[in-house]
Amino acid sequence: MQTIFSGIQPSGTLTLGNYLGALQQFVELQDEYDCYFCIVDEHAITVPQDRLALRKNIKSLAALYLASGIDSNKVTLFVQSEVPAHTQLAWILQSINYIGELERMTQYKDKSKGQEAVSSALLTYPTLMAADILLYNTNVVPVGDDQKQHLELTRNLAQRFNHRFNDIFTIPEIRIPKVGARIMSLQDPTKKMSKSDTNQKGYISMLDEPKQIEKKIKSAVTDSEGIVKFDKENKPGVSNLLTIYSVCTGESIEALEKKYADKGYGDFKQGVANAVISVLEPIQEKYKELIDSEELDLILDKGSEKASITAGKTLKKAKKAVGLGRVRK
Ligand code: AMP
Ligand code: TRP
Repeated sequence: MQTIFSGIQPSGTLTLGNYLGALQQFVELQDEYDCYFCIVDEHAITVPQDRLALRKNIKSLAALYLASGIDSNKVTLFVQSEVPAHTQLAWILQSINYIGELERMTQYKDKSKGQEAVSSALLTYPTLMAADILLYNTNVVPVGDDQKQHLELTRNLAQRFNHRFNDIFTIPEIRIPKVGARIMSLQDPTKKMSKSDTNQKGYISMLDEPKQIEKKIKSAVTDSEGIVKFDKENKPGVSNLLTIYSVCTGESIEALEKKYADKGYGDFKQGVANAVISVLEPIQEKYKELIDSEELDLILDKGSEKASITAGKTLKKAKKAVGLGRVRK
């Protein structure tokens, strides 16, 4: 069976973008692959975090994974900082990762732009991401398209390491969903929907109340044409809503265009809101049952134990390959 690894940062409640671009795929993949799903808390601290909020977000994210349909009997769900091999391998990989390569990452450029104090962890974040992936002999990494460049770097680092030292890393492939890879902001459909958006009307949180969801979708930016048609260039707002509608219901974009051919944006938006609510409401119910349960802790304990075993083996090989440590007499 091939292996999948993916991670999500616990830096605020997940958005509908995270769900459609990441979690929903994970659920589909868990039957076909040996899956490792990681709550990447060490990635979250590359920008300042409030310690109590971070703690809360780690568990909340774990509960959201499970509430979305991730089955703890099939996958390994764990918290990154509970498996020290991640930062240990990241250090080794930093020794073959050039500063120039890291400075070229668009996410680094975006996040550091205009900032006075940029942490070095923000720069070396993709090296840690490479370590996450390579520790598990990962074949496939399902992510949204914003992670493409980081995946390319991971592949380069793995090849460089294998070539320079010993052939120990599997070269991972990226997997991006065909529809829903990039859900855009409801207020500025040229920008990605993001949980760090300062305008709360721009994103739908996975835990937003149905009433809030409806309100946010009704106030989503569209255009004055009044025609429900997919045209990313000229109608980014309507196209984004069509994508959301389609991924939530499984209906094709063409079918939806037909359905709303002689209707206005009011009806269309109501349809989008209903589709989103019917996806998120059952997830929210399950989330409430899980969030304060002991079961959640037990699942995460089991996950980090299992992840540590696989990761430990790879780390040992990597250390040996570069000559770290001692050989006993
Ligand atoms: P992040 O929230 O940046 O930790 O991202 C977690 C996962 O969700 C990654 O696989 C992202 O590519 C994906 N993701 C985040 N935002 C979006 C979005 N607006 N549309 C689609 N996928 C997204
Ligand atoms: N960098 C990813 C993001 O911000 C999160 C992440 C960390 C990840 N490690 C990973 C994704 C390994 C896939 C595989 O979305």
